[in-house]
Amino acid sequence: MVLPKKRSHESWMRLLNPNRNVSSSTFLRSTTFLGNQHSWKRFVAFFGVILFIVHQIQIASVDLIYMPEDGGGRTPSERPTSQLKPSTKKNNNTIVAWKGPAQGNVVSRNTTAKHKLSDFFPAETKSTYKNSNETIDDVMQGREQILSILNDAGIVVDNPSEMRRLPRWQQVTELYGPRPVILGLDQCRSFQDRVPPQNRFLGVAGNFNSGTTAFGISLQANCRFPHHNDTMSRHFSNEKVSNVNGMLNQVPWAKHKMAFNKYNHTILSTVPKDHVLPVVLVRDPLYWMQSMCKEGYGVRWDHDSQKHCPNLIPDEFDKKRFGKRLARTNVTSVRVWMGANPTVGPSWDSLVHYWNAWYESYVDATWPRLLIRFEDTLFHPKQVMEEVCLCGGGELVKPFQYLVDEAKWNHKQEQNNMVTAMMRYGTARGRYRNMTKDDIAFSNRILNSTLLEVFQYKAPAVHS
Ligand SMILES: *[C@@H]1O[C@H](CO)[C@@H](O)[C@H](O)[C@H]1NC(C)=O
Ligand SMILES: *[C@@H]1O[C@H](CO)[C@@H](O)[C@H](O)[C@H]1NC(C)=O
Ligand SMILES: *[C@@H]1O[C@H](CO)[C@@H](O)[C@H](O)[C@H]1NC(C)=O
Ligand SMILES: *[C@@H]1O[C@H](CO)[C@@H](O)[C@H](O)[C@H]1NC(C)=O
Ligand SMILES: *[C@@H]1O[C@H](CO)[C@@H](O)[C@H](O)[C@H]1NC(C)=O
Ligand SMILES: *[C@@H]1O[C@H](CO)[C@@H](O)[C@H](O)[C@H]1NC(C)=O
Ligand SMILES: *[C@@H]1O[C@H](CO)[C@@H](O)[C@H](O)[C@H]1NC(C)=O
Ligand SMILES: *[C@@H]1O[C@H](CO)[C@@H](O)[C@H](O)[C@H]1NC(C)=O
Repeated sequence: MVLPKKRSHESWMRLLNPNRNVSSSTFLRSTTFLGNQHSWKRFVAFFGVILFIVHQIQIASVDLIYMPEDGGGRTPSERPTSQLKPSTKKNNNTIVAWKGPAQGNVVSRNTTAKHKLSDFFPAETKSTYKNSNETIDDVMQGREQILSILNDAGIVVDNPSEMRRLPRWQQVTELYGPRPVILGLDQCRSFQDRVPPQNRFLGVAGNFNSGTTAFGISLQANCRFPHHNDTMSRHFSNEKVSNVNGMLNQVPWAKHKMAFNKYNHTILSTVPKDHVLPVVLVRDPLYWMQSMCKEGYGVRWDHDSQKHCPNLIPDEFDKKRFGKRLARTNVTSVRVWMGANPTVGPSWDSLVHYWNAWYESYVDATWPRLLIRFEDTLFHPKQVMEEVCLCGGGELVKPFQYLVDEAKWNHKQEQNNMVTAMMRYGTARGRYRNMTKDDIAFSNRILNSTLLEVFQYKAPAVHS
């Protein structure tokens, strides 16, 4: 797109989106999750969630959802039918509050607020940003692409100080390259040849904290198999897996399982596994680890998120606090495990070893699968959706529906939405947060360079 140099804000908005009234009334949503690690943590988390909910109800008009991991909500048939439809929209510039199936219990409040960019800022930083003396035209320079996405999603950006908090496109492309990365597009034909249209499914997979829930909601809102009707949808849903027009919120072998569990593990038996084209989300491992620090789900390791995390190499604090395991002289990294303790169940040498193993399993899988980047669902949402949907042989639902506020972007007790995710993950500023030099060097050495290359993520900079 060739953009003229100077324009007023109004004319920009018209140019970017000629037919839209950008101040529609919309619904927002937030989500929290209760972890299941140590009971004291659960206790703290529980009160955190309560406080968070009370806080949210007080400060904003948002939908509040409690969303258990792995879609442990009620089955669609148990819900009021009003929750099975997208919320009503005033016009086509859609902020989606998608009340689809299997999202847990939904508590919602109506709002008629207009959506300004600052409505999405994390509450704690709302009052701290400085007023700028720059004009809106100055600040727009280099941010046109992101403004265009926000405008398309019905979010008004009319204040230069707020706008400055958005990353410049150049910062985004420095981190992730200019184009989305999608692996496995060469398999679309073979999947479609093998599975007839009425039997096809797309299903979401990905590591914990890689945006699988958000993408599942978005997929169900934006893509459909025309040959799948409602009757079939209900038939193929259960309390863990929801199916909307052939779009599964997770693969029948569970979205967080590694690829070699495909034929080992089943949470939905009515859909043959080879009828499902998995859409697997991957995420920059450095930012991913930060989210794991906030909530690791079933992945455990000795760490204190307030002191040192991600912690790949134990530092003095770790050795003191977790002496039993980390103070031994033969310990060279912080081990990660799943299950009750490190000696039962699977374990890995470190969090980056675990990330490697997870994605190696899907990259090396011999059956058709698509791998997409979480970051591309933020910065190239329509293109990614189109590629994924058409690869499976589905058709796009128009107009495109944005999921702007959904907590699985990041995690609890923070306001998580498309805007904060763009702000955080659109720049490299926080990428090494709380890592020591040793941790960074270790991640540089251990992260599988083939994976970083195919996904076009930057290797950790040793001198950061
Ligand atoms: C919304 O889109 C539909 C078609 O998708 C169109 O018929 C309708 O006029 C649009 N409404 C507005 C308010 O733009
Ligand atoms: C939301 O708004 C609709 C229509 O204005 C109203 O019927 C409904 O009761 C409201 N719901 C809540 C939870 O306020
Ligand atoms: C904005 O203010 C800063 C100092 O606060 C000053 O250096 C800069 O020149 C100002 N810019 C404009 C365009 O006035
Ligand atoms: C939906 O699919 C079911 C099962 O294949 C079929 O019996 C039914 O007639 C279909 N309904 C429509 C409206 O196509
Ligand atoms: C079953 O799962 C285990 C790991 O739990 C894996 O090593 C094995 O290869 C899997 N078997 C098949 C047939 O996929
Ligand atoms: C370190 O030594 C202990 C006790 O000798 C042993 O149980 C443990 O497996 C060793 N750890 C590693 C990482 O080699
Ligand atoms: C790195 O990942 C690739 C792709 O999954 C895999 O084939 C390769 O074995 C991995 N390299 C190492 C050293 O494990
Ligand atoms: C990590 O963050 C905590 C809390 O902000 C701080 O006390 C600690 O020094 C940090 N550690 C590193 C290695 O940055």
